[in-house]
Amino acid sequence: MPLRQARQKGWSIDRMIRKARLTDAKQIQELINYFSKKDLMLERSLNEIYENIRDYFVFINSEEIIGTVALHICWEDLGEIKALAVKERFQEKGIGVRLVKRALTEAKALKLKKVFALTYVPEFFRKLGFREIDKKSLPQKIWGECVNCVKFPNCTETALILKI
Ligand SMILES: CC(C)(COP(=O)(O)OP(=O)(O)OC[C@H]1O[C@@H](n2cnc3c(N)ncnc32)[C@H](O)[C@@H]1OP(=O)(O)O)[C@@H](O)C(=O)NCCC(=O)NCCS
Repeated sequence: MPLRQARQKGWSIDRMIRKARLTDAKQIQELINYFSKKDLMLERSLNEIYENIRDYFVFINSEEIIGTVALHICWEDLGEIKALAVKERFQEKGIGVRLVKRALTEAKALKLKKVFALTYVPEFFRKLGFREIDKKSLPQKIWGECVNCVKFPNCTETALILKI
């Protein structure tokens, strides 16, 4: 169903979010890599998306994926919000927030205690109650992976965490 119609019917836009399917992978990659070309996100390979497809949620407008987010489990009590993106023409309509809240609902169900994000848009996450932390306070497993990033060591991402 189109977003405008859903709003007219008074539906919660949460109904337009579902877990991703393998058939969504190419659209997810296009969405993420559109922003990675603008240096707003890290590029993701199809292989990486297929391997982690169970982490992903998608926001569907009619048949089109217009938003995505992933919740990745890092440790016994720690998860990461990753790969958050909303198509430009649908931004500033509350979709990004709904996607993150959906991922946080799953985090709670999984009994995760904390969820972090590494991001270029810290303000967006602050509005959701995340607070800034030193990246090095995250388990070494996480920042240890940074050495494999093309941006290492000139990373400008901010680390934020939410206790849930
Ligand atoms: C960041 C992004 C996902 C936000 O999605 P969105 O659907 O536009 O966000 P929402 O409409 O839910 O916005 C919620 C709030 O965050 C604010 N916000 C949105 N994008 C923001 C940004 N880039 N910087 C700061 N604040 C932002 C909104 O103004 C809104 O504030 P309000 O509640 O005071 O009005 C979207 O802008 C995007 O895809 N950006 C490009 C990719 C990217 O940067 N991804 C993040 C990687 S971690």
